[in-house]
Amino acid sequence: MNRLLYPALSLLALVSACQTTAPRQASTTTTSTVAQSQGVYQYRDEDPSVKPFFSDRVGTTGRNGMVASAHPEASRVGVEILKMGGNAVDAAVAVQFALAVVYPGAGNLGGGGFMVYRDAKGQLATLDFREKAPGKATQNMYLDSLGNVRPGLSISGHLASGVPGSVDGMVQAHGRYGKLTWQQVLQPAVDLAEKGFSLTDRDARGLNGIKYDLKKINPGKAYFIKGNPADTLRWGKDDRLVQADLGQTLRRIQAQGRAGFYAGETARLLATEMQRGGGLITEQDLADYKSVWRDPLKATYKDLTIITMPPTSSGGVALVQMMRFVEPFPLRKWGWNRDSTVQVMIEAERRVYADRAKFLGDPDFVKVPVPELTSYPYLKTRWTDFNWAKATDSKNVRGGTIPGYESLETTHFSVVDRDGNAVSITTTLNGGYGSRVVVGGAGFLMNNEMDDFSIKPGTPNMYGLVGNAANAIAPGKRMLSSMTPTIIEKGGKLYMVAGTPGGSTIMTSVFQTVLNVVEHGMTMQQSVNALKFHHQWLPDKTIFESGAFSERTQQALQARGYVLERLTNTLGRMDCILVRPDGSFEGASDPRADNTAMGY
Ligand code: DON
Repeated sequence: MNRLLYPALSLLALVSACQTTAPRQASTTTTSTVAQSQGVYQYRDEDPSVKPFFSDRVGTTGRNGMVASAHPEASRVGVEILKMGGNAVDAAVAVQFALAVVYPGAGNLGGGGFMVYRDAKGQLATLDFREKAPGKATQNMYLDSLGNVRPGLSISGHLASGVPGSVDGMVQAHGRYGKLTWQQVLQPAVDLAEKGFSLTDRDARGLNGIKYDLKKINPGKAYFIKGNPADTLRWGKDDRLVQADLGQTLRRIQAQGRAGFYAGETARLLATEMQRGGGLITEQDLADYKSVWRDPLKATYKDLTIITMPPTSSGGVALVQMMRFVEPFPLRKWGWNRDSTVQVMIEAERRVYADRAKFLGDPDFVKVPVPELTSYPYLKTRWTDFNWAKATDSKNVRGGTIPGYESLETTHFSVVDRDGNAVSITTTLNGGYGSRVVVGGAGFLMNNEMDDFSIKPGTPNMYGLVGNAANAIAPGKRMLSSMTPTIIEKGGKLYMVAGTPGGSTIMTSVFQTVLNVVEHGMTMQQSVNALKFHHQWLPDKTIFESGAFSERTQQALQARGYVLERLTNTLGRMDCILVRPDGSFEGASDPRADNTAMGY
């Protein structure tokens, strides 16, 4: 997704009887159930100006498996692997490597991410392959001698990169769950790199858009630039992109596994590239990198079980907090994006992002009070200043109080196989095309994930997120993420696989996508198509996709003091799968980009 997402957003009673109902207190018992029907949702507002869906795309049906990813070539690869008898993890690993070739804006070797896994028997696992700060990183590395932020250094160029985790993550995931050989799951990516693939219109525009950055940061290199050194040429739809160096790197990974990236030739090339550009990552950092299996964050919402990513991502904690904040309210009765529905969701989001800034960080470095933050009694204390008549002022909202606590362009894909094993992976370089550093001789882009640390307390990152000590830089520490790969069970069975890119908006997009299905009765694809909104505590405003709110909803919210900002761009690029009552899979990919669901 666009690296300028938040800056581009300029960094941001006429209430009916049921809408004035005082908020019910959150209860500790959850006997209610989510919407039963999987019919097609009909929008019920009388306001004819509202077109609540981004498009009329309908979901893709599969009976034996489903892959939903950001690029048609990657989804094709995933389905091929499933058809060869691979399981969901084999397909996911193949998709991850294919995306590194065909979707260089976010698919990656030089980045990191998170995997949530549920096997057909209900066994769960989550894998943290988030990047780490290099050993030579320091807390104030992006500040000058006066303590001011040196602009751009955490975003662009060599100093912006953390130690990549994606390759180790795939090695770990495949080693534990894969059925096909490592060579087999790598082969499609090798082929795509060496033989090339046809660019989509969007691929071409993306590469054209970063040409000048690429030339500035990687002088003399031809990567991703059409016809270099004569740079007057522009990529167009159906042009073929062949990536020979990347093909060699993938072959080393295919032949040697982890050592094909974290040692030997690739590690040497990466460390040399870092030295050339003043970056910090060394061969030792690469040798030291290890992804971590973590205990999944598991929580109920009505009759569902949400299985999601614990820290180092903040996404899972935030999703559970938001779901549980709104659980006591009759959202279904109020209706999709009606003023009361939106109001409680905004107020939940405001409080959740304040907690994120205060409490969340790498659990290997700071204590993150996950059970407390997601508990009903704690969430109840956070609602006490909620007022139906008036928006809460973010200035008066701080992270909550937990006794004993010491202060101190991404892409998502979902895969389900015929047995019902499910994988939900979100992975990223952070901004679109990451730091724009291409590793010389190895042909892959490096992340700019260091910007996800709080580089100075209270200073917003590129998504406008602020943080504190919990997310300060330290050598070997993982930077906090918003990525929210999620799997949901209903009645003990697989029900939904969901996730999206979008920086700080990831958690709220997943939140809405889940609610749209489970409360408002949308199909999975309708829910993805549905227009979205977002509030993140600071800046204190609600951004919304044009059409997400009717005029009446806008007026009702503004009368209560909510600041609303209509976007000219979009929110989220979801790739989701729903298991329908008849056992078939509904693949739902986001019509906002090239996302494609393929089933068989
Ligand atoms: O980990 C995070 O929260 C961010 N690095 C995600 C970046 C992202 O989603 C970019 N795409 N829009």
